[in-house]
Amino acid sequence: MMTLDVSNAVHTTSLPLPGARHGKVRDMYSLPPDQDGPRVLMVASDRISAFDVIMPTPIPGKGQLLTSISAGWFHWLRGRGIINDHLLSLDVPSIPGADAPTLASLEGRIMVCRAVRIIPVECVARGYLAGSGWAEYKQSQTVCGIKLPAGLRQGDRLPEPIFTPATKADAGHDENISFEGACSAIGGALATRLRDVTLRLYAAAREHAAARGVILADTKFEFGFALGADGTPTDRLLLADEVLTPDSSRYWPADTWSPGRDQPSYDKQFMREHLLRLEQAGLWDRTPPGPELPADVVEGTLSRYREAAQRLFAAASL
Ligand SMILES: Nc1ncnc2c1ncn2[C@@H]1O[C@H](COP(=O)(O)OP(=O)(O)OP(=O)(O)O)[C@@H](O)[C@H]1O
Ligand SMILES: [Mg+2]
Repeated sequence: MMTLDVSNAVHTTSLPLPGARHGKVRDMYSLPPDQDGPRVLMVASDRISAFDVIMPTPIPGKGQLLTSISAGWFHWLRGRGIINDHLLSLDVPSIPGADAPTLASLEGRIMVCRAVRIIPVECVARGYLAGSGWAEYKQSQTVCGIKLPAGLRQGDRLPEPIFTPATKADAGHDENISFEGACSAIGGALATRLRDVTLRLYAAAREHAAARGVILADTKFEFGFALGADGTPTDRLLLADEVLTPDSSRYWPADTWSPGRDQPSYDKQFMREHLLRLEQAGLWDRTPPGPELPADVVEGTLSRYREAAQRLFAAASL
């Protein structure tokens, strides 16, 4: 069994760079622009969140696994020629004032990216019935207003993959919206383009995953318009954020797939089950701060991320 090196865990960074922003998992900073415009540094921390609460205990090495999965997919997708993306480099950039241990802790967990203005619609593609899609289907036989055949079970494959956008809420939970809702939010032409690109990316990715024995049940993409030299958005549409990681996607091992129940997955489900047990015992109520995670939950979670990375891109050294 792999032992955990907690000493290298990165929970929260505070780099001597301007423009610091902390998401649930990643820390973002501004980097000096290159000839094409502003750049950002995205640092994937070892933070993990559940029910929108960030846990105090890091999952040491999760940030590197997320970065390697994302980078693997960006690289693979470039070969498909569907859309340009924001990734510029995986090399730790020069950060004046950062000491050597800090720079070393960033190895493998950063992406230097073109800064974009993120489009405020999360672009979800679903090929299987799970999560909020399953919940809506049980109520109304629809997912994001799309009518589906009767009699589908939890975890069933859909006749065709569907585009199920969601609002990108500044705070709180993202909410599923209809395609018409996305059109009113960002305009019909852009919504149609994003739907088309999202479904093409999903179709290509799920084929690669299937060849590796993994079902890509659904996934979420974010897109943005590259910022130009003057800092305002250009018309260059880019695939941004992380792509096709277990944090942004539902991956199931193909060999245990069995519709009619919740599927075991490669994401944080393992940790969520632990938290649900705490909740049932009256020890946590889904409000911050989250509870410290025991070592077996940390290790079990990490091993699922590691297995996803290995299966998808044979990143055996991770
Ligand atoms: N190239 C880019 N330029 C600017 N912002 C980006 C870029 N790529 C991704 N982002 C944004 O960076 C943030 C990444 O951090 P993280 O994923 O931890 O956030 P989050 O907690 O999921 O928040 P959100 O709900 O906004 O996604 C997201 O807000 C994402 O929209
Ligand atoms: Mg995010």
